[in-house]
Amino acid sequence: MSVTQPKRYTITAALPYANGPLHLGHIAGAYLPADIYVRYLRLIGKDVAFIGGSDEHGVAITLRAKKEGISPQQIIDKYHYLNKETFEKFGISFDMYHRTSEKVHHETSQEFFTSLYNKGEFIEKQSEQFYDEEYDQFLADRYIVGTCPICKFENAYGDQCENCGSSLNPTDLINPKSTLSGKTPIIKETKHWYLPLDKYQPWLEEWLLKGKKGQWKSNVYGQCSAWLQAGLQPRAMTRDLDWGVDVPLPNTEGKKLYVWLDAPIGYISSTKQWAEDHNKDWELYWKKQPNEKDNSRLIHFIGKDNIVFHCIIFPSILHANGEYILPENVPANEFLNLEGKKISTSRNWAVWLHEYLEDFPGKQDILRYVLCSILPETKDSEFTWKDFQAKNNNELVAIYGNFINRTMVLTHKYFQGIVPEAGDFLEIDNDALDKIKTLAKQISEAIDNFRFREANALMMDLARTGNKYLADTEPWKVIKEDEERVKTILNVALQIATALSIISEPFLPFTSSKLREMLNIEAIAWQNATDHILLESGHQLNASALLFDKIEDDTVEQQIQKLLDARNEGAEEHKATPAKDEITFPDFEKIDIRVATILEAEKVKKSKKLLKLKVDTGIDQRTVLSGIAQYYKSEDIVGKQVCILVNLAPRKMMGTESQGMILMAEDHDGKLSFVRPEDAVKNGSQIS
Ligand code: 2FM
Ligand code: ZN
Repeated sequence: MSVTQPKRYTITAALPYANGPLHLGHIAGAYLPADIYVRYLRLIGKDVAFIGGSDEHGVAITLRAKKEGISPQQIIDKYHYLNKETFEKFGISFDMYHRTSEKVHHETSQEFFTSLYNKGEFIEKQSEQFYDEEYDQFLADRYIVGTCPICKFENAYGDQCENCGSSLNPTDLINPKSTLSGKTPIIKETKHWYLPLDKYQPWLEEWLLKGKKGQWKSNVYGQCSAWLQAGLQPRAMTRDLDWGVDVPLPNTEGKKLYVWLDAPIGYISSTKQWAEDHNKDWELYWKKQPNEKDNSRLIHFIGKDNIVFHCIIFPSILHANGEYILPENVPANEFLNLEGKKISTSRNWAVWLHEYLEDFPGKQDILRYVLCSILPETKDSEFTWKDFQAKNNNELVAIYGNFINRTMVLTHKYFQGIVPEAGDFLEIDNDALDKIKTLAKQISEAIDNFRFREANALMMDLARTGNKYLADTEPWKVIKEDEERVKTILNVALQIATALSIISEPFLPFTSSKLREMLNIEAIAWQNATDHILLESGHQLNASALLFDKIEDDTVEQQIQKLLDARNEGAEEHKATPAKDEITFPDFEKIDIRVATILEAEKVKKSKKLLKLKVDTGIDQRTVLSGIAQYYKSEDIVGKQVCILVNLAPRKMMGTESQGMILMAEDHDGKLSFVRPEDAVKNGSQIS
């Protein structure tokens, strides 16, 4: 982090496509960390513009419209309003939630394109692109899928692999298929305008590789340096599509701006709208100021699949324009998994935020707390309903809620809800009060450096401090002999409770507000949290209420069942991946598949997936490694017959040579099961 402290911040959170509802992965990736950061900045008195909105262009929208049988406009209206409302209800406190279909956005992105065009930044090029003859259409971005050349993920898009985050060109894909007809596309010539990323490479190496080393998170920095090492290529900024922002040049009918050109400019147009609505100057939040120290600090919160666009492409565009500030930081998160599996919208394996809000009314903060405690800040992490229940019951109820409840109830019981006057402080009192200062400082430091999990845990430590203080001082016993001492104890406990109402606001905004209401206080600035005396003696408290309730087993069991049911419904709709390219019978004849019996099976050390099998193929006995450990136990499969590809070249994995491949059927959710003969046959029988 730089040492100078700007007073103005431009904070953006990725504009989600308005093509579906929000799930927990979205929230843990970008929106919750952004909101915690922004709420903290506001509490320390900074001028912040927290910018969001819907990304309403590109193939993501038109594909969804096709799937639902409605127009792209109907799709974006449906999901823009749903997502905007969901964010609001969940307490994501955007200053502006705009849409890229608005006129101001079309104009702003066209102005950007024109300014780069006039500067001669684009390369105008005829190139060969995939084309679907049946649909009479060029296949941009998500209209084409195939195998990622980097990670071999089979459903990579034409512009990006969402599995490994690589930025791709359609022609990079192995076995490309049109998502419209399912067929292999033909190649056709078309003209587009390319951003010369290779030209910006030296500048990116200076600004990013040198300038951000040790400052950006290692997952982000690592991805960027890998791309720069591989060498950047020019990238088309226009597409042959009928949905999006028109290319502002003559004779370009049927051409639109690439969605990843216009979407980040959406942050700027959203800020323009916010500024107009609130009588502000948008340029202060985006443009370089005459004096560098007056520049706003720009921070993009995103998920890891958006890194290349925010760290390489958008900064190159801003740099080429020349008038704009560049991102100070891009604290991208990794992915959140759900109950042991990747979140998948197509497989319906997701917890939808709007459904959570319906199923758990008024319980936004539980989810905020649990998600914050597992944010995938440095590596993928996992949400489970059992963990959700445990963190609610053992931390929010048993620590935070219990501390506040005991403090409030005892003050009402012994002193009619009036803050009692403290006598002389003992060491235990001073220690507890000092802990407020220490924790507040540590939390600031963690938030400043985007370590929200740690900050959240430290916030709970303050509640733990209060809880322990009451357990150690036992005012309910002391009251029998020494009422004066109890006055001091409850005064101290109430100071901790007040500090907690401030410090927990970024994490638990709804709870913090309820707590302030109970304490009968207004919002207090963060800096004041470290004052010993936050509540004056004689101050009247309001009635007390429980802040959190226990979550019972059947509640989370219902949620797990709901997930499984939804997945099964999704399975009915699941479409098989398109057929691979045609092969001839002689091609097929090269494959030698035999029936074999598993003689031995054991787990491969340090591997979650692999089992080491010894099999009798009828020809020989050999060792095969198979990635089935998540689906089969060794002891259950010995003696079973399976099918094995016996003439596959041996491969070494985890130090062992695998001599063949066991055939498995992969279900729509990734589950593997053996393919085997219906009746027992002799080992070595051929499959043909
Ligand atoms: O991945 C997505 O959902 C994109 N719509 C994010 C866009 S972020 C920004 F550039 F607008
Ligand atoms: Zn990939």
